[in-house]
Amino acid sequence: MAAKSEDFGLSDEQRALRDEARRFAQEEIVPVAAKFDESGDFPVALIKKAHSLGLVNLVQPVECGGTGLSLFDACLVIEELAAGCAGVTTSIVANDLALLPIRVGGTKAQQEKFIKPVAESGAMASFCLTEPGAGSDAAGISTSVRRDGDSYVLNGAKQWITNGGVASQYTVFATLDKAKRHKGMCCLVVPASAAGIKKGHHENKLGQRCSNTVALNFDNVRVPAENLIGAEGEGFKVAMKTLDLSRPMTAIIAVGIARAAYEHALRYAQERKQFSQAIASFQAIQFMLADMITDIEAGRLLTLRSASLLDAGRSASLESSMAKRFSADMAMDVCVNAVQVFGGYGYTKEYPVEKLMRDAKLMQIYEGTSQIQRLVIAREILSPS
Ligand code: CAA
Repeated sequence: MAAKSEDFGLSDEQRALRDEARRFAQEEIVPVAAKFDESGDFPVALIKKAHSLGLVNLVQPVECGGTGLSLFDACLVIEELAAGCAGVTTSIVANDLALLPIRVGGTKAQQEKFIKPVAESGAMASFCLTEPGAGSDAAGISTSVRRDGDSYVLNGAKQWITNGGVASQYTVFATLDKAKRHKGMCCLVVPASAAGIKKGHHENKLGQRCSNTVALNFDNVRVPAENLIGAEGEGFKVAMKTLDLSRPMTAIIAVGIARAAYEHALRYAQERKQFSQAIASFQAIQFMLADMITDIEAGRLLTLRSASLLDAGRSASLESSMAKRFSADMAMDVCVNAVQVFGGYGYTKEYPVEKLMRDAKLMQIYEGTSQIQRLVIAREILSPS
């Protein structure tokens, strides 16, 4: 399906960018997606190639080695990559997520110091907020940080860290005083080579299996005081502002997964014959396909709108949570129905839709569950303006 985003009146440059991402996804990612899904190995060569084409660090400034795209343009790219493989795409988008706090809260000098080496070299980075005891409750983190001379010292554990086992740099959220909740939080850049960091094993996940996910342990990890991003106590707001910016990029991963599932279902429905005719001739199947394409378009529109509001410098917590909530839940529904269109075949690894269904499930969980998005949306609409 040619993405209906043409209706946005994309410029020639935007079309070229999207087409380049589509070509990379279809020619380079799709042929190996099942293999990486099976092995769970991190797709090193693919990510290196994506980096060489400017398809990693999409929204980081050009002067810091990034591609310098707007969020809107990044979404055009990410939808294509995700239609190829969500695991690969999550690995790519997690780099932007890890580097965004440095842009949100860091000085120009810090952006130069901490974004440029990662973005220029093609290294990976991780956003380290979640902990074993603090997932949805981001202000409840326990990883501690204390000032000691001209250093900060970190102690604690992080959980479900995307790219954690392969990253060269971590953006870590920690607390000076847990009792202060969000008011005690700090954001620090931590080199992965720092003494005292222990990486856990790569999690054996249901979906997005090649995206590297590990636990991290920090045991008296010392970083220079100049690695603090923003002031002491500002870490929570840096994290929330970052998530506002990254949620459209996550939402569009869901749109890409759903689009791939729909395209497979559409093709299969026209080939598969039952009762002597293609199953696409039955209204039961037609209505499923009609709902799929409608919902995908709705997710795309919500997401691109939230991205363009953020690009315009508007605060868009509401819109970015609506995009993430809708697109994640939509992708799950679309994939479940795509498996249904394929029937028994769809439930096997011979066809790609079962992987898409497994990959889609994570969209409702990471970067704020669908329930947390509803909470943000409800607070936004109920708070006095
Ligand atoms: N922008 C700026 N400031 C914000 C903000 C935002 N979007 N959201 C909240 N704040 C401010 C509030 O205004 C408040 O400020 P004051 O102290 O000045 O009043 C302060 O932050 C505290 O806000 P809340 O009272 O709303 O905080 P809360 O404890 O109730 O939590 C929450 C709010 C929305 C539930 C938050 O905890 C949250 O977003 N949880 C989900 C965390 C999440 O998404 N984790 C995903 C990790 S990343 C990941 O999964 C990536 C991956 O690996 C792929």
